[in-house]
Amino acid sequence: MSGGRHPVFVDVDTGVDDAMALVYLFGSPDADLVGIASTAGNVGVDDVCRNNLALLELCGVTGVPVSRGSETPLVAPLRTAEDTHGPQGLGYARLPAPTAALTDHDAAEAWVRAARAHPGELIGIATGPLTNLALALRAEPALPRLLGRLVIMGGAFDYRGNTTPVAEWNVSVDPESAAEVFAAWHRSGADHLPIVLGLNLTENVAMTPQLLSRLADAAGSTSTPMSALDPRGTESAASNPVIRVLEDAMRFYFEFHFDQGEGYLAHLHDPVAAAVALDTALVQCRPAPVDVELTGTLTRGMTIADWSHRWGREPNALIGVDVDPDAFFDRFIARVGAFAQQLAGVSRR
Ligand code: BDR
Ligand code: CA
Repeated sequence: MSGGRHPVFVDVDTGVDDAMALVYLFGSPDADLVGIASTAGNVGVDDVCRNNLALLELCGVTGVPVSRGSETPLVAPLRTAEDTHGPQGLGYARLPAPTAALTDHDAAEAWVRAARAHPGELIGIATGPLTNLALALRAEPALPRLLGRLVIMGGAFDYRGNTTPVAEWNVSVDPESAAEVFAAWHRSGADHLPIVLGLNLTENVAMTPQLLSRLADAAGSTSTPMSALDPRGTESAASNPVIRVLEDAMRFYFEFHFDQGEGYLAHLHDPVAAAVALDTALVQCRPAPVDVELTGTLTRGMTIADWSHRWGREPNALIGVDVDPDAFFDRFIARVGAFAQQLAGVSRR
């Protein structure tokens, strides 16, 4: 895929880190965001829709259709993660109720329409459970060949899970859809494989209070460095409205990670996927056949990479194995900072 501006379609379960990924895409001049699919996951699908529309409005982004996805995973009952992402998915941030409407068609159809509108060019990004994408593949089995690139945040390869001892959240919520998506690439004859970024990769990328202060500086915003000693839920006093929302969202995510014993920081799983979708050079990947455990009583939702080719299958995924967190944060802070600063300038005029 050559330089310039690329059509991008993103499927999210917004979610604090999904929100950070969306703002990164809004602020990326090489991304032409053509649609947002809302998936039930971190919070219910209606909260996800509202968060997506509200973030677009906060950021003054118009003309990006938002579609509602399935209310539940393909087979399993829905589980949500308000303990991780806050009661409505954006941590402590509260955004005004959005005024824009959702599309008349659902999120699975939105995937298909976007891919058909940009054959061979569309960059797809999935940072939630893969329910919509699995339904889209059922409706359009040629989707793998229609997409120019697909980046999935999901799974944990040779690495512990964050939902069960072995399963990562996005795959664990809807393991059947993840299995269908990986199987679809086996059948598709597509000449490119999805890039799959699991916890083994994304947990190397941790936002910290220091990095958030750098982001505020890059936006020309005031900000008070956060600390684990602050009273829980302390509101951001940043002068820039976008930074204020991101800080209020991130504080909740920091507190969650702190309570898990991981430190006062937060892994930016989904922004890494968004950044890699626009620049694959940010990670190193290895091809492997991948499948999802669906029946194990202890291991349901585990992602398995057959590195030693014992299954005798062709690779169906490129698994992220290495990332340069400094390069990622330089890019993230430069883009989101400049975007937030420019928005504040526009709203003052
Ligand atoms: C994934 O799970 C969600 O909670 C995050 O948004 C991310 O997509 C990490 O396991
Ligand atoms: Ca997510």
